[in-house]
Amino acid sequence: MTDLQTLQTELLAAITAANDETTLEAVRIAALGKSGSVSALLKTLGAMTPDERKEQGPRINGLKEAVNAALAARKDALKNAALEARLNTETIDVTLPVREPPAEIGRIHPISQVVDELTAIFADMGFAVAEGPDIETDDLNFTKLNFPEGHPAREMHDTFYFNPKPDGSRLLLRTHTSPVQIRALLTRPLPVYVVSPGKCFRTDPLDATHSPVFHQIECLAVDEGLTMADLRGAVQVFVDAMFGEGLRTRLRPDYFPFTEPSADVSMECHVCRGASTRPGGAPCRVCRSQGWIELAGCGMVNPRVLVACGVDPEKYSGFAFGFGIERMLMFRHNVEDMRDMVEGDVRFTRPFGMEI
Ligand code: PHE
Repeated sequence: MTDLQTLQTELLAAITAANDETTLEAVRIAALGKSGSVSALLKTLGAMTPDERKEQGPRINGLKEAVNAALAARKDALKNAALEARLNTETIDVTLPVREPPAEIGRIHPISQVVDELTAIFADMGFAVAEGPDIETDDLNFTKLNFPEGHPAREMHDTFYFNPKPDGSRLLLRTHTSPVQIRALLTRPLPVYVVSPGKCFRTDPLDATHSPVFHQIECLAVDEGLTMADLRGAVQVFVDAMFGEGLRTRLRPDYFPFTEPSADVSMECHVCRGASTRPGGAPCRVCRSQGWIELAGCGMVNPRVLVACGVDPEKYSGFAFGFGIERMLMFRHNVEDMRDMVEGDVRFTRPFGMEI
């Protein structure tokens, strides 16, 4: 047996005997590494005569190839054996319960819950749901609601405007749900009883008490002979349904261009029930010891608005009220930070408990 054959037999035996990748790598380095036995043989080729090289070259290279092939085969075998071993030990128990998929963890967002609750209350009172687009014309968001061009009341709303069109008119993100009143009056046959929930936008920062995107719900009734007493009654029925019976409501004068007279609606605090302190004397945090909570803006539809919508103010009158849904959620559920409403954290929505 030549030296080369001996070496090959030894190396192949060492490769077969290697039972893990580390040992196999050590064998590879000992043979083919910089100072390995096969590398040393390859180096001798340089010093040979051409004839010797012709004879030895193929033999030495043949050895190298045989070793390489054996190394690759052994490596594969070791890999397969490792996989086989893992598959044998890591069994999957298909009888174990699977983790709850996200759909089951999700909840209807509290804002959507309240919108559903509110629309159901108004539907019971005979109001139809009316919706309008988030992007409005200046005319519907302001002018027809009796905010004339250049009127300071426009400054009450910090408005997101789009770039002006060639004719100078500008679209905007609606700043309140009141343009839906106009759309309803322009398109629906009288009498009109509608409730319109939806998103509103104002250039406010997002902080504990503000959000540039928020929700309002608006209630509009236009019929023959409606009076402030009807408005008051509707507000009371609504508060009874939302907070339980027995809380008084009060109206105080306010100003909105589209209602005349206008008022703000407050209700007795549902936590301290008007006492402004909690049992034991601690100040009530929900109403900040006021005993009352401001709930909504309201009023009798301004006859100018009726005229702008082609409704005869001699024959018809109407009332409207509108309020912020986030604000109502905050005081009804003691949510202290507006940001919780928009951040989509299920730890916030989960306690509201309503499952899909
Ligand atoms: N649109 C008013 C606001 O955003 C609220 C309101 C609605 C007032 C309807 C009166 C009647 O402040």
